[in-house]
Amino acid sequence: MNSRTGVLILSHQLLSMVAPLQQQLAARGLECYVLSSRPSRALTPPWQDRVSQIEITDGHALTMQDIAACLARLPDEVTLVACISVWDGYRELMAQTNGLLGATDLDVSCVTRLRDKLTMRRWLHGDGLSRVQAQPLTDALWQGITDPSAFFIKPRTGLASFGAFRADKLDQPDQLDTLWRQACADQAYAGVFEGEPEFIIEDLIQGTEYCFEVIVTKGEAQVLAVHEKIDMHQQGFTVLENACVCPPVSVQAEQLAQGKTFVTRCLASLEVTTGLFHIEAKFAERQGWEMVEINPRIGGAYILESTRHHAGVDLLSLWLDSLLSRPLQPVQPSNRRSFFRVFFGQSGRTLARIQPRNGAEVPLLDQRLFVQEGDRLPQIEREIFIGQALWDISALPHHNFSDFAASTAHHFQVEYHP
Ligand SMILES: Nc1ncnc2c1ncn2[C@@H]1O[C@H](COP(=O)(O)OP(=O)(O)O)[C@@H](O)[C@H]1O
Ligand SMILES: [Mg+2]
Repeated sequence: MNSRTGVLILSHQLLSMVAPLQQQLAARGLECYVLSSRPSRALTPPWQDRVSQIEITDGHALTMQDIAACLARLPDEVTLVACISVWDGYRELMAQTNGLLGATDLDVSCVTRLRDKLTMRRWLHGDGLSRVQAQPLTDALWQGITDPSAFFIKPRTGLASFGAFRADKLDQPDQLDTLWRQACADQAYAGVFEGEPEFIIEDLIQGTEYCFEVIVTKGEAQVLAVHEKIDMHQQGFTVLENACVCPPVSVQAEQLAQGKTFVTRCLASLEVTTGLFHIEAKFAERQGWEMVEINPRIGGAYILESTRHHAGVDLLSLWLDSLLSRPLQPVQPSNRRSFFRVFFGQSGRTLARIQPRNGAEVPLLDQRLFVQEGDRLPQIEREIFIGQALWDISALPHHNFSDFAASTAHHFQVEYHP
């Protein structure tokens, strides 16, 4: 009997970066077993011929029962050595499965400590690493607040900036129930928002926001890339994160070094010993560095490609090697700079036309559209990604950066039906 060795990929609705994961696994001589929840819109995965097995469950969100059943059905000659998922909502399932398979991953309690923003904040506050205080949002607490503009509200466990906003946006606390109901009904995010609404309220953090891509092995953290978020703004009850530049442009080298040390200390405080992280933190001269959130997964949009361009490493490859307890590929930083922009659509509207513009001066590394003309965008209070584009800005003079970044806001020409 031939023995076969592979990795289980947990895919959300046939998405979740299966294609690049499959490539990385193939390069390691490993097979790819995909367990996916049922997609909420018709979709034929382009990678289906390249994987050893795809199982699609009836539900729109995977559960531990689905995984147990999938593992039990595997033929005897197959050995799974690890499980991976880039989907936020499956991070605990991934950790639990890795516990069963014996792969190197965080235990479930550590994953929850990071994903539960109330626990994460209180832990860091208790260790003197955050000045921000957070509490569950209740009616009584809300009534006692005199200056809501000093606070920020978000789900206790969330994603995609859904329901994340400065507290003075809220007129009545029951608006949150409506928001929560909408989120629970959103099939694309099945399994993420369930049960009673759980929001937290915490002190507003000032400053510019940065994200840190970090790998931790045997308790040692290494910051691979830092991106600065540009052009963030609030739309409805969502914070839209429009663009990122790497390396950052508004922070001095010394402050950036402090940021890396700060992030490393927060991970150590939270007893993080292994894994790959996408960490969001803010910096303002007066307050120093403050944590926003720690995602125990790879960053979205073009973070993977941008980090590869800038730091010469592939985050998925590092993450897999860490799960498989293999030596990590050394980092070979280049001095290349990158910039990407994400494009959002308007909730509930129908696209009449969408086309990229050609700007020749700055090299475009990649661009993608996730929608087509004629598509009706979902009616929902969250980010609706319609496309993204990534540029190589290595040759762009620093003083031209902000004009260039502003000009890319209209990279895709979008028109809606009236
Ligand atoms: N306490 C806060 N003060 C100011 N802005 C915040 C605060 N918490 C979150 N944000 C903003 O809201 C965005 C979304 O919040 P985050 O915790 O990252 O949730 P998500 O899991 O939805 O990404 C952040 O990127 C940040 O810009
Ligand atoms: Mg976030």
